Amino acid sequence: MTEKVLLFASSKGGVGKSTVALGLARALAAQGQRILLADFDFCSPCLDLLCGVEDHVLCTVSDLAREACTVENALLRPYETQELYLLPAAQDDILPDDGREPVPPDRIVLLARAVQQAAEHTHADFVLIDTGAGVSTGLQAAAAIAHSAVIVAGHTPASIRAAGRTGQRLQTCGIADAHLIINPFDVQGAGAKKNMRHSMLEIIDGVGVPLLGVVPYDYGLTLEQEGRGGADIAASALQNIAGRLLGKTVPLFSGLPKIRKKKRTLFR
Ligand SMILES: Nc1ncnc2c1ncn2[C@@H]1O[C@H](COP(=O)(O)OP(=O)(O)OP(=O)(O)O)[C@@H](O)[C@H]1O
Ligand SMILES: [Mg+2]
Repeated sequence: MTEKVLLFASSKGGVGKSTVALGLARALAAQGQRILLADFDFCSPCLDLLCGVEDHVLCTVSDLAREACTVENALLRPYETQELYLLPAAQDDILPDDGREPVPPDRIVLLARAVQQAAEHTHADFVLIDTGAGVSTGLQAAAAIAHSAVIVAGHTPASIRAAGRTGQRLQTCGIADAHLIINPFDVQGAGAKKNMRHSMLEIIDGVGVPLLGVVPYDYGLTLEQEGRGGADIAASALQNIAGRLLGKTVPLFSGLPKIRKKKRTLFR
């Protein structure tokens, strides 16, 4: 594949992999990129729900892999104004989902072919692949397809440890290029006089991969996912990350003046 293929991972559940994958897909699309967003969480797929198109899912990435549908029937375009195409998943039997068994190579070939077909059909500049928690089979399959990884971690020791292990695991799967997104970042807690939360440096050190960006906690994201309201702070942070992926130099908290003011305290 000539387009850039990124997977989103952490073996820790609920750290925001799907939220960040979708948010970044939208931010890249807003900067004129054509995006294919593929759901490889075969245990708890959710991107169709987050995009609000669950009632429009006809076929899934697994159906496409099995050649049980056309690429047109598998793809959804959730946002009229954006060139963002979703390849949804379902709880499915194309992959055994306990992650303990190695993924059968023939299944990886089929899934890779399905993603390739969708990427060609949509003329995607970027392919973003969301994976589930644990060492899922979806993660193994995504690692066989992707060029690089985005590892998501928050402040908790469990999430930092899980993210570090995920990075090591991805290296053994051949993904040497991994970056960290800290999400959700608790600006108040990390900047408090008595450090209530792990600082940014502690998180980066614990995970052991370079920082790509920081997405602050934004209740607006939860509201947005429920179809009410929007997430201005998170959206600005994701625009910054999208800019970096496009090779621009974007300061860590560009467009986030309230957080910029606190930046010295956030690295303590
Ligand atoms: N920056 C943020 N600010 C506020 N809420 C957030 C943020 N990021 C994620 N969330 C919320 O955290 C919850 C979990 O997010 P999400 O489903 O994206 O996690 P996940 O890592 O994909 O979970 P899973 O491991 O089950 O796939 C969601 O309710 C989401 O709205
Ligand atoms: Mg998820």
